[in-house]
Amino acid sequence: MSLRSYIGALRSRWPHTCATEPILRIVLGNESCDFDSFASTLTYAYTRGLVPVLQLPDSRDILLRRDIAWWLSQRGIPATQLFTLQDVKEWRTTQGPHGAVHAVLVDHNKLTGPAAALVDEVTGVVDHHADEGLYLGAEPRVVQPCASCSTLVMDLCGRSEDTPPPEDITELCLSALLLDSSCLAKRMTPLDASVVNRFYKGATDTALLYRTLQGQKRDLSGLTAGDVLRADYKQFSFALGPVGVAVGVASVPRSLRWAASAVGWAEFCRAAQGAVADRGLALLLVMFHSGGRRQLAVVTGSAGAALADTVVAAVAGDLALAEITADGAGMEGGSAEPGDGFRGSAVRCFEQGNAVVSRKLFTPMLSRFFSSLSHQRVAATGPSRATPHRMKSVSVGVIGAGVVGSALLDQLVALSLPDVQLELVLVAESGKALLSQDYKPLQNGESFQWRDALAKCGESTGLEMPQVIEFLKNSPHRAILVDNTSSAYVAGFYNDFVSAGISIATPNKKAFSSDIKVWDQLFAPSTDESYPRGLVYHEATVGAGLPIISFLREIIATGDQVEKIEGIFSGTLSYIFNEFSSSDAKFSEIVAVAKSLGYTEPDPRDDLNGLDVARKVTIVARIAGLPVENPQAFPVQSLIPKPLESVSSAQEFLEKLPQYDGDLEALKQEAASEGKVLRFIGSVDLTTKTASVGIQKYDTAHPFASLKGSDNVISIKTKRYTNPVVIQGAGAGAAVTAAGVLGDAIKAAQRL
Ligand SMILES: NC(=O)c1ccc[n+]([C@@H]2O[C@H](COP(=O)([O-])OP(=O)(O)OC[C@H]3O[C@@H](n4cnc5c(N)ncnc54)[C@H](OP(=O)(O)O)[C@@H]3O)[C@@H](O)[C@H]2O)c1
Repeated sequence: MSLRSYIGALRSRWPHTCATEPILRIVLGNESCDFDSFASTLTYAYTRGLVPVLQLPDSRDILLRRDIAWWLSQRGIPATQLFTLQDVKEWRTTQGPHGAVHAVLVDHNKLTGPAAALVDEVTGVVDHHADEGLYLGAEPRVVQPCASCSTLVMDLCGRSEDTPPPEDITELCLSALLLDSSCLAKRMTPLDASVVNRFYKGATDTALLYRTLQGQKRDLSGLTAGDVLRADYKQFSFALGPVGVAVGVASVPRSLRWAASAVGWAEFCRAAQGAVADRGLALLLVMFHSGGRRQLAVVTGSAGAALADTVVAAVAGDLALAEITADGAGMEGGSAEPGDGFRGSAVRCFEQGNAVVSRKLFTPMLSRFFSSLSHQRVAATGPSRATPHRMKSVSVGVIGAGVVGSALLDQLVALSLPDVQLELVLVAESGKALLSQDYKPLQNGESFQWRDALAKCGESTGLEMPQVIEFLKNSPHRAILVDNTSSAYVAGFYNDFVSAGISIATPNKKAFSSDIKVWDQLFAPSTDESYPRGLVYHEATVGAGLPIISFLREIIATGDQVEKIEGIFSGTLSYIFNEFSSSDAKFSEIVAVAKSLGYTEPDPRDDLNGLDVARKVTIVARIAGLPVENPQAFPVQSLIPKPLESVSSAQEFLEKLPQYDGDLEALKQEAASEGKVLRFIGSVDLTTKTASVGIQKYDTAHPFASLKGSDNVISIKTKRYTNPVVIQGAGAGAAVTAAGVLGDAIKAAQRL
């Protein structure tokens, strides 16, 4: 049976339903009755033999939703056959006190408004919005983020039916997904992709269907300002102290500029204030969206300007709001038509720089804001517009939970900052991922046991980087990736992260010391101011937590010129040479001890080949102004005797190394006879434009000669610091490296 026949049959016997008891079993869509809600309601009702009910006062209101009206006309379904709250009200009247209404909620998971008074029991929930934690005994109870609620409904239908759903149902749900995912390009989750694969594979020309639906949706011609505000409208009831407040959020698929010119701004403001009065709203928020940009109009309601201003101050950071002044200045694309003032006495308008935040993401923010206010009273006069105090939230995804990653997560969970909140939303290793699908912080205070939570995730194939980018890009807050791996695969996606507006904090050297083109691309300035690139911080790629990169960048920014950088950049080689010069032990014996203490890589040749130092030299040289092509582009001395380069195992290498102790021993004696010691040095000389890595001799009085343990030391001589600045300290270790990375994440968060 087609959907059309199903609805026709239901309507023809209405108000009699198949139920033998006086219970009306309905599927109830959400208050905005947008395409997704419409499609999910009809599909779920069709597959389960229930009555689909749209949350509209009257079925004619469906004609305001032009995309739905178009779809109905294509399928020959008259709008008047659809069921609305009015039908439910009439059914209750015919049944008298014995009738009961049982509802499955789709595309929302909390009953509000007039529907709450009509429904006796919520028997099921299928939704992709933030979980309100209600109706825990409902069956099914599926509340899972994904691009479209229709995906969840199709997933459930597919499980319970052997035969595929009819073609009009699949087209209906595909249409909903196309609209919600910008033609399968955004917000897609693995479940959306799987449903596409299972049900929509044979669909013809999805791009054309998407364009047609979009065109219909955006066609608001002939509608009054009041109609535009009603066409996609949701109302929320938030707790505020002892009383609740009603807040309306209208979504308009056109720009603020369009509202000013097509409807007339004064008329629009009048209609908005009329809606506020008619619905008893404390506040009305109108979200305009068109061509990837968004504007927000905040209409003062019964709670007065104080509440409106407090809300604006609270969300201004996350939404990147910039106020549009009365003449339209500050508006994207310049000022509006003359005479169109964008600020009525009760309306404030903003460009919304963070265009990712749709109503779906905005509503949980409002909910959090109101619950934080519920213990306070909004001051009668409201806060000062000039000095709002707000805590900025930034989403953080952490990849790698090894030596450095574990220490970083411990430090992050214990973190408390006065101005910014780092909200952990992702922790991943190669085969495990802990994800906050609704972007609520995973950490719930210092007690958050991330190790247990990650262990419980179970092994999987892990996350691919494009998934991580998509996930962080869709966060309601600006996002930071913390990469604690040494993976070239992860580093290969840095530019994609940054281009998507995601910032990076990392100790992973791979991207910064590979080809100079990668460096240039990564640090290229933003070309589009409204879509700022992410920031890149990598202090711990050189000297672990020591402030080497930040110091260099800062003095250069102030106009200083670096002349020479030289230092001991490797903790392992620092230890080996410190021991070598202060004891009688042979070089090979010290290497063996360093390995047994865990100071070297599993194969010590990975330290002795000098490449790790060459990578760090490449990084500081580039910052200092010497554009080194790659770490092989300058002389690097390897400490591996030539014949041992190709021996197959680390064990064989260690066994044969004593045969070659003679050369280094002779060099050590030669240095000693000159009153010097040997050190393994990386250096960059800006005056000769050269870089090198290898053994050097230093006077015993030199700061490099008195080094102990595995410390790093870096000396920086500049035009201003003619007597070099010497930075010395632990150049490795979990706690200090993690602190360097976390410090970077905090800096990025504060700047975002
Ligand atoms: N340790 C130090 O003292 C120190 C000092 C300065 C800089 N660093 C730098 O810090 C970084 C981390 O060093 P570490 O000592 O912590 O290394 P580690 O103990 O080996 O940890 C690496 C972590 O990265 C994860 N990982 C690797 N590839 C991945 C991928 N493709 N996707 C997701 N997760 C992945 C690993 O997970 P699996 O185990 O599941 O693969 C592991 O959790 C390196 O770049 C290193 O050079 C370390």
